[in-house]
Amino acid sequence: MELELRREHLQTVARITFSNFIIVPAISLSLAADTLGTNRCISYGETLVSSDLTFKLGFFTPGNSSMSYLGMWYKVSPETVVWVANRNNPLADRDGVLTFNNVGNLVVLNESNAVVWSSKSSRILRNPVAHLLNSGNLVLWDNSGSSTHEAYSWQSFDYLSDTLLVGMKLGLNFRTGLEHHLTSWTSTDDPSRGDFTYTYKIDGLPQIEVVSKGSVKVYRTGPWNGVAFSGASMEANSVVNPVIVNNSTDAYLTIKTLKEDITAKVVISRDGIIECHLLKSGSTEWDLIYSFPHDPCDSYGQCGSNGVCRVNQRPRCLCLQGFKPKSRDEWDMLNSTEGCIRKIPFVATAF
Ligand SMILES: *[C@@H]1O[C@H](CO)[C@@H](O)[C@H](O)[C@H]1NC(C)=O
Ligand SMILES: *[C@@H]1O[C@H](CO)[C@@H](O)[C@H](O)[C@H]1NC(C)=O
Ligand SMILES: *[C@@H]1O[C@H](CO)[C@@H](O)[C@H](O)[C@H]1NC(C)=O
Ligand SMILES: *[C@@H]1O[C@H](CO)[C@@H](O)[C@H](O)[C@H]1NC(C)=O
Repeated sequence: MELELRREHLQTVARITFSNFIIVPAISLSLAADTLGTNRCISYGETLVSSDLTFKLGFFTPGNSSMSYLGMWYKVSPETVVWVANRNNPLADRDGVLTFNNVGNLVVLNESNAVVWSSKSSRILRNPVAHLLNSGNLVLWDNSGSSTHEAYSWQSFDYLSDTLLVGMKLGLNFRTGLEHHLTSWTSTDDPSRGDFTYTYKIDGLPQIEVVSKGSVKVYRTGPWNGVAFSGASMEANSVVNPVIVNNSTDAYLTIKTLKEDITAKVVISRDGIIECHLLKSGSTEWDLIYSFPHDPCDSYGQCGSNGVCRVNQRPRCLCLQGFKPKSRDEWDMLNSTEGCIRKIPFVATAF
């Protein structure tokens, strides 16, 4: 797989070089920038980048902290870290590397070569490869022999931080015994496990539960009625939907975006608030479109069809890409219930 990728890239480089008479040596360094093999390691300032350029993985220092962590963020918004590997065991400074140990696990080593984090895969990998997928999943597989890499020996999607990305699962996998939940950061300077966890529970009916340290239940969303959680009407938007799976092998919540030019994430804030954020393609700013409990966007249909309600922005309603307010006057008066219409009307030509 890696070799194939390389060959393809080299052919591309050759084509560019010969057709345009430009020699671009930098391209050979960025070959398979989404892949880490045993011939390379990552230190502070270096990153893996997913092939569609959405996600980056590397070391970062949060807020005013002097300590560093291995984490993942969207390339367009580096301040928004969505996953942290060594969240409870930071590097004291910026001297650390991401590499493989002798049984093929991913490890973060500090200055004195002590392991501060490890991927703890159960299998021994002879030729390990780590790959940052376009979904934001960092996966580990064995590149030796003819085995396909479908069966990852480890994946970051099994170890959630405070953020649920599209494709991540909040809940239980009965086959692996893994339970996935979100845990808030301690502070903006400190990603270590904070006071609140966000879990999917099935006792009787599926429920989403926020629990604070010491197992005090903060709130529950109420049972799933097949469309939404009764206490939290997350269905009240046309862009992001929760999806519930409950069968003999899996019980989880995941999120699905309904528009291609939009991505979304759900975060548990340091204060235990569940927030759903949305990023339009081409934008670098996340919009908060839903929060629980306390949601000013809660009432259904506030922004009408093809509109999105944003908690943290003025005006509160936003039209999706390619759409404009149906009635500009009403929109300016903050009454946006008429929604949005297509900018270029779809005209059927009559011959
Ligand atoms: C960093 O420290 C300064 C000064 O103490 C403070 O004003 C600022 O809010 C801090 N930033 C973060 C992200 O904590
Ligand atoms: C590296 O980590 C080990 C184990 O946690 C620790 O004892 C040592 O002081 C660390 N070295 C540095 C330079 O931070
Ligand atoms: C979900 O699964 C559990 C365990 O199999 C079951 O008790 C419960 O009734 C199921 N709920 C729904 C809504 O399917
Ligand atoms: C449970 O649902 C998941 C997601 O749709 C699916 O991948 C899995 O195969 C299902 N398990 C069973 C036993 O149907």
